[in-house]
Amino acid sequence: MQTPLIIAIDGPAASGKGTLARRLAANLGLRHLDTGLTYRATAHRLLQHGLPLENLSAAETAARQVDLHDLDRTTLSQHEIGEAASKIAVMPSVRRILVDKQREFASAMPGAVLDGRDIGTVVCPQAKVKLYVTAAAPVRARRRHEELLAKNGSDDFDAILADIERRDARDMARDDSPLRPAVDAYLLDTSQMDIEAAFSAAKVIINDALAAE
Ligand code: DC
Repeated sequence: MQTPLIIAIDGPAASGKGTLARRLAANLGLRHLDTGLTYRATAHRLLQHGLPLENLSAAETAARQVDLHDLDRTTLSQHEIGEAASKIAVMPSVRRILVDKQREFASAMPGAVLDGRDIGTVVCPQAKVKLYVTAAAPVRARRRHEELLAKNGSDDFDAILADIERRDARDMARDDSPLRPAVDAYLLDTSQMDIEAAFSAAKVIINDALAAE
């Protein structure tokens, strides 16, 4: 029986894992899910309705209403939504609801590339290939700064760096599904790489892993 090909890509905020995951999915003919968007969509619903982020039953309802096929990246990429997402992501019951949806997405043929914080450790521990994509915090802050400068014309580097460090700390310190590499993940440090180099390195890792079957 054929099983779906699942590639898990985890890493901290602004590590470039999203861009890498999208490119790999297109290259391999797989579907792609940015699981961060599911946490963002949940938080967005609460913010839209003026509900406090600590309201657990409202957060569970919002999580149940998330439609994986209707995630508006442009709206959800806003900074405040990312902050709020990181806060509701500490709630185990909210995670369970979203993880079920993510697993369902991953299990359809021909397979998928999922990126997030806990794909290799919790969502898809059976993934054929696991990558942990990281880069030093000042490098990630510089990339985000350049992105925002191009978009808005101005932005404060120090605030972006502080923000990334705060988010890393929250994502790594939570009790349920903290951000960490799976024991069988390949580490890809992109501090000295552009997206082309990261893509080539990831392709080598994936091809080797598939050839070793
Ligand atoms: O990758 P991102 O910035 O869109 O993620 C937003 C927040 O969602 C992040 O701070 C932590 C949470 N998240 C998570 O807990 N687990 C995932 N698989 C993906 C995101």
